[in-house]
Amino acid sequence: MDVLVTGGTGRLGGHLVPRLRDAGHAVRQMSRRGTGPGGVRGDLATGFDLRTALAGAEVVVHTASDPRGDPWQVDVAGTRRLVEAVDRDRLRHLVYVSIVGVDRIPFGYYRAKFAAEQVLLASGLPVTLLRVTQFHDFVDELLSAARRGPVLPVPMGWRVQPVDVVEVAGHLVDVVAGPPAGAVVEYGGPEDLTVAELARAWAGARAPGAHVVATPVPGRMSSAVRDGAALPGGGARGRRSYAEHLRA
Ligand SMILES: NC(=O)c1ccc[n+]([C@@H]2O[C@H](COP(=O)([O-])OP(=O)(O)OC[C@H]3O[C@@H](n4cnc5c(N)ncnc54)[C@H](OP(=O)(O)O)[C@@H]3O)[C@@H](O)[C@H]2O)c1
Repeated sequence: MDVLVTGGTGRLGGHLVPRLRDAGHAVRQMSRRGTGPGGVRGDLATGFDLRTALAGAEVVVHTASDPRGDPWQVDVAGTRRLVEAVDRDRLRHLVYVSIVGVDRIPFGYYRAKFAAEQVLLASGLPVTLLRVTQFHDFVDELLSAARRGPVLPVPMGWRVQPVDVVEVAGHLVDVVAGPPAGAVVEYGGPEDLTVAELARAWAGARAPGAHVVATPVPGRMSSAVRDGAALPGGGARGRRSYAEHLRA
């Protein structure tokens, strides 16, 4: 099938594009600069080049996002622009990559992702909303950024179930080939862990000597994550553990 991946230059997109090609699809990948093999330009924040990028696509895997910029412009209004620009006669499946807990965790970026899901559900397009847990690589980045010399402060009691991004990409190849669910489906890693457990494993492998300090974090968002709102309820599971990821 003719597949367009938005966010092809991202953490997930970079693994997904070659896997979709290996599965026999003709893949183009969209980003603001249109770099890389099969790269096309398209800007969700402005709508520039979107219609050209989406022309002829039978499948769209929508992974583009702007968590550090303006997710209301890119993720929400941008998803609306995407819906308006797709070729409705050609489109067979639009798969959106969301995050487990966007409906339960009161956090600005998650609210935007949830709003983007609503745009897609209301679009009348054949959609699957795949909510995924945190990628192992992303956990590494967060822990590395949180470290202050010999101290690694983490929120006390937060529970997560991270997943390997390579397995997410492989799962997406299967989702693309399947029928549109018209609903939310979830995908997560194999283990329910506290952030402190992850941090101790990460420090052991990547920052020997760093001391993990779990600190209570007040607020509704924190209590939701402590109560398991970031854990997947159902759906398929990746098999690779965080410890295996760290050993690789
Ligand atoms: N990271 C995680 O742990 C995690 C977990 C669960 C779900 N997710 C979801 O999975 C998806 C992919 O995450 P990721 O970590 O791979 O993202 P990422 O590395 O931050 O990549 C974001 C992508 O979005 C593109 N993008 C940003 N602004 C854009 C715009 N205005 N127009 C067009 N493209 C734009 C970027 O392309 P350029 O900058 O090159 O234009 C890049 O390819 C996201 O939707 C995220 O919410 C992530």
